[in-house]
Amino acid sequence: MTALSTTARIAVIGAGAMGAGIAQVAAQAGHPVLLLDNRPGAAAKAIDGIDRQLGKRVEKGKLSADARRVTVARLQAVESIEDLAGCALIIEAIVENLEVKRALFRQLESICNEQCILASNTSSLSITSIAAQLERPQRLLGLHFFNPAPVMALVEIVSGLASDPALADCLYATAKAWGKKPVHTRSTPGFIVNRVARPFYAESLRLLQENVADCATLDALMRDAGGFAMGAFELTDLIGHDVNYAVTCSVFDAYYGDNRFQPSLIQKDLGDAGRLGRKSGHGFYSYADGAERAQARTTSSERTVATCVVEGDLGIANVLVPRLREHSIEVISRDGQGLLRVGDAVLALSDGRMACQRAKEDGLCNLILLDLAFDYGTANRLAISCAAGIDPDALEDGVALLQQAGFSVSLLSDSPALAVLRTVAMLANEAADALLQGVASAADIDLAMRAGVNYPAGPLTWADTIGLVHILRVLENLHASYGEARYRPSLLLRRRVAEGSRFHD
Ligand code: NAI
Repeated sequence: MTALSTTARIAVIGAGAMGAGIAQVAAQAGHPVLLLDNRPGAAAKAIDGIDRQLGKRVEKGKLSADARRVTVARLQAVESIEDLAGCALIIEAIVENLEVKRALFRQLESICNEQCILASNTSSLSITSIAAQLERPQRLLGLHFFNPAPVMALVEIVSGLASDPALADCLYATAKAWGKKPVHTRSTPGFIVNRVARPFYAESLRLLQENVADCATLDALMRDAGGFAMGAFELTDLIGHDVNYAVTCSVFDAYYGDNRFQPSLIQKDLGDAGRLGRKSGHGFYSYADGAERAQARTTSSERTVATCVVEGDLGIANVLVPRLREHSIEVISRDGQGLLRVGDAVLALSDGRMACQRAKEDGLCNLILLDLAFDYGTANRLAISCAAGIDPDALEDGVALLQQAGFSVSLLSDSPALAVLRTVAMLANEAADALLQGVASAADIDLAMRAGVNYPAGPLTWADTIGLVHILRVLENLHASYGEARYRPSLLLRRRVAEGSRFHD
């Protein structure tokens, strides 16, 4: 299916943050664009705002004055819905209210011709439900942009039960022609991104609630070990706790209270207290003038390590071996169970059991568990955990080894699957369930998480790299530790492991 021609007239209804951004994207791509808002003058004001934004880009040399002029000339504010009659595509970005959206689309059907494509930018409402009362429900789809629309590459093309697949293909091609990265998805709660991303927030919130570490340490681990652009606390402070909590509640309710999506009392408390994040000056962190930013906790040692022993295959952590050697540590290799020994300490990548449990079950004295790093060769921070009874001398040897290799070491309380590993395993599990349920293809799920929320890798590709056997073991151990359905492994993950295949084969 081909994209809409640039001569096709586009309308955007709702001239708020999203509508204005979407109108700008369509105009920059070459379309004549009509912008309508029910607040008199709001559409014209939004176009002035776009002009000013583009002006700033011209000043910075990022856009030519001509491109600015041409783009703005393509934008026209209109005050009446009847003016939208000749449009090929109408994108709605009004208030997030099912009845208001339904009424608007019913009105549009009576004004526009039968060939017009209707699209909603809703983040949380069902496309099936918005379309249900239309005469031509097949012509309504979701076109879900991310904020800010001119900057964020992802667009979820959302098909409801009645949506015409040919129109989904047309919108996909059109979004691509607009310079975006579109993905196809079915209308299910949260679509791809707002569903698959839930564990990113939920697991950090849980670790905080269980006193495994403080916010600054967990944020630093997600960034510096996990490779995420931001940790969950700094990110939710930016998004706003009212907004982030509302999305979580909406997905949780939509899945009938599945505790995979359970909202956090900690976040509810912040909202109740009016600590909404940056916009209110206080969230997990204070943004008051002169407020000191909390620092991640680092455990350090004065010791120097000369030698360590690698027993067997460290799996994804194998790249530690050259890194240790580069830092003047002699590494002796021998057969074994994937362990790293230094002094009296034994270091191992977490398999999801607590250190106290694994030390006992596997008969490993002075066990130190390593968290996941996105890249063990370049990460500059790593979390570890150990049983309460560890010999302090052995713990110091383990810390010294990692520190000498260039890691800042964060010692966490003994909790299953530490921080990054737990989060990534749960992201992969949610992505696997979305794939199992046909919400989107594996490639589109991964693309959505990279382009929509800037993850360093798609969760399914990441799980393939770590090894699905390991991810499954981590989830099974989390599930056994907590006894909660929240950590149940996806059937698709189990199936892939049994088949010996991967998500991307
Ligand atoms: P907003 O509150 O900034 O703008 C909404 C605009 O729609 C306002 O200017 C309002 O006057 C206008 N409006 C409301 N009812 C109207 C009607 N019946 N007819 C014409 N205009 C009407 O809201 P925002 O943030 O731009 O969100 C709009 C939509 O986009 C919502 O469905 C939201 O869920 C969705 N969305 C929002 C994102 C965000 O980060 N803000 C991200 C992706 C989607």
